[in-house]
Amino acid sequence: MKLYVGFLIILTIIFNVNCNECPTEREQPFHDEARLHQDLLCAYNVDFRPVKDHKTSVTVKVRFAMKYLSFDSLEETFTLHSWVALRWKDEFLTWTPSDYGNIKEIQIESHLIWTPSMSLFNADANTAMFQSDQFYTTCLLSSDGTVTCVPHLGHTGICSTSLRRWPYDTQNCTLYFGSWMHTGEQVNFTFYKNDPVVLTDFHDGPGWKLLKVVNERLSETYTCCPNSTYPMLKYRFVLKRAAAGPAAIVVVPSIVIVILTLTSFLLDVKDSTRLFLVCFSLFGHFIFLTEIGYDIPKHSSDTPIILLFLRDSMIVTLVGIIETLVLMDLRERKLPPPTWIISMNRLVSNSPGKYVVFTEFDPSNSAEEKVLTEDVTEERSRSSGSDWIQFANILNSVLFCIAFLIYFILICVYIPYD
Ligand SMILES: *[C@@H]1O[C@H](CO)[C@@H](O)[C@H](O)[C@H]1NC(C)=O
Ligand SMILES: *[C@@H]1O[C@H](CO)[C@@H](O)[C@H](O)[C@H]1NC(C)=O
Ligand SMILES: *[C@@H]1O[C@H](CO)[C@@H](O)[C@H](O)[C@H]1NC(C)=O
Repeated sequence: MKLYVGFLIILTIIFNVNCNECPTEREQPFHDEARLHQDLLCAYNVDFRPVKDHKTSVTVKVRFAMKYLSFDSLEETFTLHSWVALRWKDEFLTWTPSDYGNIKEIQIESHLIWTPSMSLFNADANTAMFQSDQFYTTCLLSSDGTVTCVPHLGHTGICSTSLRRWPYDTQNCTLYFGSWMHTGEQVNFTFYKNDPVVLTDFHDGPGWKLLKVVNERLSETYTCCPNSTYPMLKYRFVLKRAAAGPAAIVVVPSIVIVILTLTSFLLDVKDSTRLFLVCFSLFGHFIFLTEIGYDIPKHSSDTPIILLFLRDSMIVTLVGIIETLVLMDLRERKLPPPTWIISMNRLVSNSPGKYVVFTEFDPSNSAEEKVLTEDVTEERSRSSGSDWIQFANILNSVLFCIAFLIYFILICVYIPYD
């Protein structure tokens, strides 16, 4: 019995210590702001739209203050960082300032009140699971119930690229925002009347320049529910690639390599310099194709035209190599040429065409030693050799003109320009 009483006494002491009230000097004065806060939230329900009549819509005004935009053309996604100002009216968060020491505005944590959930409809699937429709920030509340929240949000959307004019391409990227489940009659997203998009303090992402932002409000009705609208806020961003780098790496060298190929057509086939030059040019084409292959998206819907240019130029260069080999072979021929070659040579040398045929393959060089022998058969062989050489000259000139023409067309059609 004694033990039991003792136990009770100990229990009472512990209970008393635990339930000891806060020391009076620690107690905070219950000032107007705390009282207002308590009065506003004591019966507040976060889960429902803050309207007294359920038929009323909550109009949410949206303003994007854009801070940073980065575009990943390999993944075809782009990310916008912005301060999103959201403003709506909460019918349950109003008060009369004179009742609370003339407080007109207070700050309130967003998770304590109802907030609209603004979803990004074309979110990138990889990042969508990390992008919450809800935000957590401190909001400003006025006595008439106007709530203003400015969360710092990042949105990653999908943007299908069109690379035809790479690297001088511009891209259209669009973000669609709206409420996932509420109709426009419940939560009505609209723009701020003034400055729906603010670009002060905006920084371009690496490699891209923002040309303009177009905002538009879509209000759609679907056949399933003719009495409900589904408003969407659409932001279209027009981005331009900063092309100086890719142009220096690919476009300018492509033109250089074309000139190299063309120059090689003018060279003498006598020594192998010409062959080396054309082979080097072909090698250069492979390098550039690899270089562009790294840079362009793997699943782009269209092909950069510079790629087609390099492809066709590569074929012309290959033909150049074959032509050089054939010409080298023609030069070495000693057999008397067929009559049609001789008559064609006559025809060309007696017509204005002879001014077009260039004469790098002047046979005098190779003929010099043979002239010394002054042998009749050698003489005949020399003359038949010079017929072959003249034929090779004509062939080379014709092929040069054709290659020049082909390149002229290719450059006009396929080289992108700014
Ligand atoms: C972007 O979209 C606008 C309007 O839809 C269109 O006029 C423009 O040509 C597009 N630009 C590109 C680069 O796709
Ligand atoms: C939503 O707002 C738009 C303009 O901002 C207005 O035209 C429209 O009538 C509103 N819809 C509802 C259901 O209140
Ligand atoms: C739409 O509203 C009309 C008139 O108020 C009504 O007759 C009709 O049943 C409604 N339709 C739906 C799908 O709610």
